[in-house]
Amino acid sequence: SLQGYESFMMKEIRESWGAVRDTIVGLMNDMEKLGKAVKAMDKARRILVVAAGTSYHAGLIFASRLMRTGKTVIPVIASEYENVKAGGEDVVLVISQSGETMDSLLAMKSFKNSGSFVVSLTNTLGNSISYYSDIALHTRAGPEIGVAATKTFTSQVGALLLISSLMIGENLDYLKEAESTVSSSFSKSIGYAEKIGVDVSKKQSLYYLGKGLGVPMAMEGALKIKEIAYIHAEAYPAGESKHGPIALVEKDFPVIFVNTGEHVDELRNNLKEMQSRKARVYVVSAGSELRSDQEVTEIMIDINDARLAPLALAPPLQLIAYYAAKERGLNPDRPRNLAKTVTVR
Ligand code: F6R
Repeated sequence: SLQGYESFMMKEIRESWGAVRDTIVGLMNDMEKLGKAVKAMDKARRILVVAAGTSYHAGLIFASRLMRTGKTVIPVIASEYENVKAGGEDVVLVISQSGETMDSLLAMKSFKNSGSFVVSLTNTLGNSISYYSDIALHTRAGPEIGVAATKTFTSQVGALLLISSLMIGENLDYLKEAESTVSSSFSKSIGYAEKIGVDVSKKQSLYYLGKGLGVPMAMEGALKIKEIAYIHAEAYPAGESKHGPIALVEKDFPVIFVNTGEHVDELRNNLKEMQSRKARVYVVSAGSELRSDQEVTEIMIDINDARLAPLALAPPLQLIAYYAAKERGLNPDRPRNLAKTVTVR
């Protein structure tokens, strides 16, 4: 039940830090299984990360972290699996909150048939995807009722930080702050996110621009606002905006920069380009400030470790979409044309 909350989406965003904690603790409690999954992926010629929608964005964060170390990781949009040929030396990591997404299920079955070993990361027990996988890992976000994925996404990100850190051989201590990072991000950002959400609710279109891991986070922010507030949004790597998208930026066109603290100087240049076209610029930052003048609304989340940035950025991006939907008089829990679990192709 709603237990006094105005919507499941808000209730579930508020559950996201506990969900991240339970996910990380849960995975670490079965180190034997987790270790097997890590070993299989370590030995693999290539890792294919297969997922749809929000789960795909979580997968991109995992892929980027590993590709930076030289590992070959191929993110595969589940419905496009026919474009990739896998074999016995490849490991497939399929990520699905529900474990029932038809595109993801068909993709994993096809890769399994060509001999690939399959690791799954799902949020429910006894689902089809975990049933068909060789190793079934789980996030522990609890049931998610709102159609838009919120706490399940943040939990996937937490799980994938852990798994990628094990693969890279990183010390895991930073993950002790995963829970407090998400909860303090929520409290710090809710007021600003409401202001930004109300502002952009009047617009028909906006951009989300990021760099590094800010790109998948920008993609997730754009998906959320399309999905529940019905505002057209596109996400780009900020540097790519000058290769075309900037053409339609005019006075008061809203642009939300998603800043993970990586390559801040370059991102700031992109921000200035947008300002010189009189765009209405907003910033969501984790780790270091981006804006160079007080005119720009910037949500600034402090983090104690740069790797926590994606976790810190999830609440403000979800809240901006939430408040944009609310301002438009929409029910964020029940977006039109969407089902919680997509079991058709
Ligand atoms: C977005 C959203 C969808 C799902 C997608 C995959 O908020 O909820 O994009 O992420 O349909 O669903 P799962 O993770 O269940 O495979």
